[in-house]
Amino acid sequence: MVAGPSRVRLAPSLLSADFADLASAVRAAEEGGADAFHLDVMDGHFVPNITFGPALVAAVRRRTRLPLDVHLMVEHPRPFLAAFRAAGADTLVIHLECADPIPETLAAIRATGAQSGLAIRPESPISASFGLLPQVDELMVMGVRPGFGGQSFLPEALPKLAASRAEIDHRALPIELALDGGVTPEVARSAAEHGATFLVCGKSVYGTPDVAGNVRALRDATAGILHAVR
Ligand code: DX5
Ligand code: ZN
Repeated sequence: MVAGPSRVRLAPSLLSADFADLASAVRAAEEGGADAFHLDVMDGHFVPNITFGPALVAAVRRRTRLPLDVHLMVEHPRPFLAAFRAAGADTLVIHLECADPIPETLAAIRATGAQSGLAIRPESPISASFGLLPQVDELMVMGVRPGFGGQSFLPEALPKLAASRAEIDHRALPIELALDGGVTPEVARSAAEHGATFLVCGKSVYGTPDVAGNVRALRDATAGILHAVR
């Protein structure tokens, strides 16, 4: 059932914020009109970088009521799902390329009560995710190689968004289509035109001091682009 048109949602990525002052980072992005927060969990195996675990997610949870989108760049995410959910994650995103069985892990996410997310690395074909879509609440196309904030956008993500949008619409699935990595205002507009409904933005939000203004600039860049939401 079509619920009506909806604007593109923005999720600042705290990876690019000052970890010693996340409370201010959250407040400033909320002031600019952020719709959610994105938290990048890296294990040093799936990606060549290490960030944080459930304790930091819980600390952010205490500072905002907005949804928390937790991106698990983790080789074996399954043993940690319950802890991230208990910490306050609303969506738990695993990678198609991780070493745990994907259908079972997506089912385990939903069993915690969280929304299930599936992220796809740039080198993986998007069609590899299509058979899993009934188990997915958020499909996340990567615009950079996962591991670090502040990288340049890889334009091959755009046809992946378009192909995902066509598949989601054709099958009338209630899936949020996300883009993560390299999102500038210009990329944001293009991604929205290619069907994205959820944009993760790190450097373009936290790379300069006017965080609220940066969120507004991203919002303006996608103004007027509406998607039907089921
Ligand atoms: C990359 C992360 C992204 C990152 C995006 O490994 O998954 O979420 O924070 O940051 P920007 O927007 O700077 O590319
Ligand atoms: Zn991410």
